Amino acid sequence: MSKLSLEKSVKDFSTKFAVSAEMTRHGKRLIPGGYSRNSFNFGPHAVFVSNGDGSHIVTVDGHRLLDLNNNFTVNVLGHNHPAITSALIDAIPSGISFGNPSPMELQLAQILVDRIPSVEKVQFSCSATESCMSAIRIARAFTGRTKIAKFEGGYHGFSDPLHISSHTGPDDEGGTDADPQPIRDSGGIPQADIDNAVILTQNDREGTERILRAHAAEIAGVIVELQSGAGGLVVLDQGFVEMLREITSELGIILIFDETISLRAGFHGLQGVYGVSPDLTVMGKIIGGGMPLGAVGGSKDVMSVLENGTVTISGTHHGHKLALVAGIACLTAMDEDAFTRLNTQAQRIQTELNEWSTARNSPFAIYGKGFSHLAYGYLNHPGLTLRNHRDYWRGLDAETTQIISLELAIRGFFPVHRGEFSLSVPMTEDDITAYTTTLKEIVLELEN
Ligand SMILES: Cc1ncc(COP(=O)(O)O)c(C=O)c1O
Repeated sequence: MSKLSLEKSVKDFSTKFAVSAEMTRHGKRLIPGGYSRNSFNFGPHAVFVSNGDGSHIVTVDGHRLLDLNNNFTVNVLGHNHPAITSALIDAIPSGISFGNPSPMELQLAQILVDRIPSVEKVQFSCSATESCMSAIRIARAFTGRTKIAKFEGGYHGFSDPLHISSHTGPDDEGGTDADPQPIRDSGGIPQADIDNAVILTQNDREGTERILRAHAAEIAGVIVELQSGAGGLVVLDQGFVEMLREITSELGIILIFDETISLRAGFHGLQGVYGVSPDLTVMGKIIGGGMPLGAVGGSKDVMSVLENGTVTISGTHHGHKLALVAGIACLTAMDEDAFTRLNTQAQRIQTELNEWSTARNSPFAIYGKGFSHLAYGYLNHPGLTLRNHRDYWRGLDAETTQIISLELAIRGFFPVHRGEFSLSVPMTEDDITAYTTTLKEIVLELEN
């Protein structure tokens, strides 16, 4: 009989983070749910933070935790990185908000164009949600078609046309495995958006080709994460991504890679690792160095709809000076060596824990493409692979995975409740060892 149970972990979590629990109660009187991000529900309540430094955060309860959440992968340089902090402090006295563009916009655009081969031109917004909206508007205007194809389990922000089938589960009427149907991820999404959504299954070559061909005349774009994140971590096969590129080119469909998270995979993004170029790329998270920034970029040809008067997109804070300043500082620090260091640490965690688990015939696994955004999960059987979103909900023991997340927080590590975690440059080998050791301890307690 395991010493751990969800009930016990929830109780210990609320005891350890009692001040956060009280702030959540207070917050509920002011803000629906107690805080503005639904995604921050972690067990019984969120953990409120008072400050962060390097690889750690300090909670309002006074606990110092190794930050494996990193604001859902944003903080690739950790907290209070000297390059970002000083760039921001230096920039503030000369004014923070202008209606005019700033030279920094050109500088950050140049960095992205230099690094991501498929990006010849780029346009900034305040978030990846907005840049995903821009991407589908560009695709619709460029092709003159209306429908958008997306993958079940793919997350592209919370806009009406895309907040669909990201978080489906066994109780949803999401169609058969061969013919998935669009499901609203939220109330308030109009039927027209559902009607314009075409849903595909990750790594299903036959089904994807069949569905895209059947709707080819109506589909403007396919939007896809090469490794999904918020909907559950699934890695696309090399051959599947190549097939997607071939068929979308053949059918005149705009291929959009949502690299909001996966840009941290390498100097040229995850598309550089696959060696496959989309027509449009959505970027976010690390490009703003911790400030709110999103971007869409692509070929000159496709992006031309933004300059010939066909498509207009404009936001008061788009290309905000401070976000650009932080983004430039962050990406400058993220040179090729920094990506290599992060990836080496990620691969160490993945190899060490998976070898340990396999040797014990345990269903515990670390999965991911091998860069600094990974997930742990307690699966229903040892050796299961999660090749699409339905494998994820069918194969993952969600309750045991949740216990692991709560226990990590109780023992000094701040994870994401669904098992995802990300690394930051300031993490030391000792931090990584402490993390792997603690994960093993928790799994042993679960199994003994
Ligand atoms: C792949 C992906 N696309 C888009 C978004 C939306 O980004 P934002 O929350 O910055 O609007 C996210 C957020 O997590 C994401 O992971």
